[in-house]
Amino acid sequence: MAEIRLPPNSVVGTGKTHPAQAGAKRVRKFSIYRWNPEDVDDKGKPSNPKMDTYEIDMDTCGPMVLDALIKIKDEIDPTLTFRRSCREGICGSCAMNIDGTNTLACIKPIADVQGDVKIYPLPHMAVIKDLVPDMTHFYAQYESIKPWLQTTTPQPANRERLQSPEDRSKLDGLYECILCACCSTSCPSYWWNSDRFLGPAILLQAYRWIIDSRDEFTGERLDDLEDPFKLYRCHTIMNCAKTCPKGLNPAKAIAEIKKLMVKKVV
Ligand code: SF4
Ligand code: SF4
Ligand code: FES
Repeated sequence: MAEIRLPPNSVVGTGKTHPAQAGAKRVRKFSIYRWNPEDVDDKGKPSNPKMDTYEIDMDTCGPMVLDALIKIKDEIDPTLTFRRSCREGICGSCAMNIDGTNTLACIKPIADVQGDVKIYPLPHMAVIKDLVPDMTHFYAQYESIKPWLQTTTPQPANRERLQSPEDRSKLDGLYECILCACCSTSCPSYWWNSDRFLGPAILLQAYRWIIDSRDEFTGERLDDLEDPFKLYRCHTIMNCAKTCPKGLNPAKAIAEIKKLMVKKVV
C-alpha cells in the first residue's frame, strides 16, 4: 500500500471560493476540507489542509449532501475526492463529518443544515485525500474479531444451520450495521486509544457473533475480548449511539458483552 502522509497538525486554512453561476437564485455554500498529499509548499513540505467553498444553485441540485458533492465533482472541480457507492445508506462508504456530526452524505438532507454546509472527513482518522479516510486499521480490527460463523459440529446434510425466530430476533439492531465507522470516529476513547481499543463499531460486530445461536465459539470470543483495552476503554459516553446513521446502539451491545463477561467469571 502507498505510504499515507498525515495532514499537518495545524489550523485548516482558507482555500478557493467557486462562485455560483450568474442568475442562480437558491444558492447554498458548501465549505469542504481539502488536502492532497502531493501538494507541497515553497520549502517542499506538505501543504496544510484548507477549506474550499463552492456555491451551488439548489434549483439544479438533488436534495442530499452527496448530490451536492457529485455535482461539484462533475461540474465544478473534478479534483474533489470522496467515497460513495450505493447512494442509499447501505454501503457505508460516504461516511463523513457534516455540520459537526458524523453521518452518511447520501442520506443527509441539505435542508437539515442551517447556514453553510461544512464538510470534513471522519475525525481522528489518517486522511488519504480530501474526504477519504484511511480505513486500514479499522478493517484490521474488524478481521480480528473473526466476523464469521465458527463451529465444530458438521453442517447438517442438505440444509443450512437453523435458528429459531426468537434466536434470530437477537440479531436485530446488530445485523443492520454497515461498518461506516461513524460511531467509532465519534468516540473519544477510540480517538485516543484506537491502537488497542476496538471501538463501538467493531464491538457491536463482535457482539453480533457472540449472540448468534449458531456460533459455537462464544467462550473463545469472550476470552479474546478479555483485555483492559479492547473492551473496557468504553466509558459509556454514548456518542456512538447518538451519531449512528442507522439508528443502532453500539453502547448497548458493549454493555451486553460486559454483562456476559461477568457471568463468565461468576
Ligand atoms: S453501528 Fe452504526 S455508526 Fe457504527 S459502524 Fe455500524 S452503522 Fe456505522
Ligand atoms: S459508549 Fe463507549 S463506545 Fe460509545 S462513544 Fe462512549 S466510550 Fe465510545
Ligand atoms: S453511498 Fe453508500 S451509504 Fe452513502
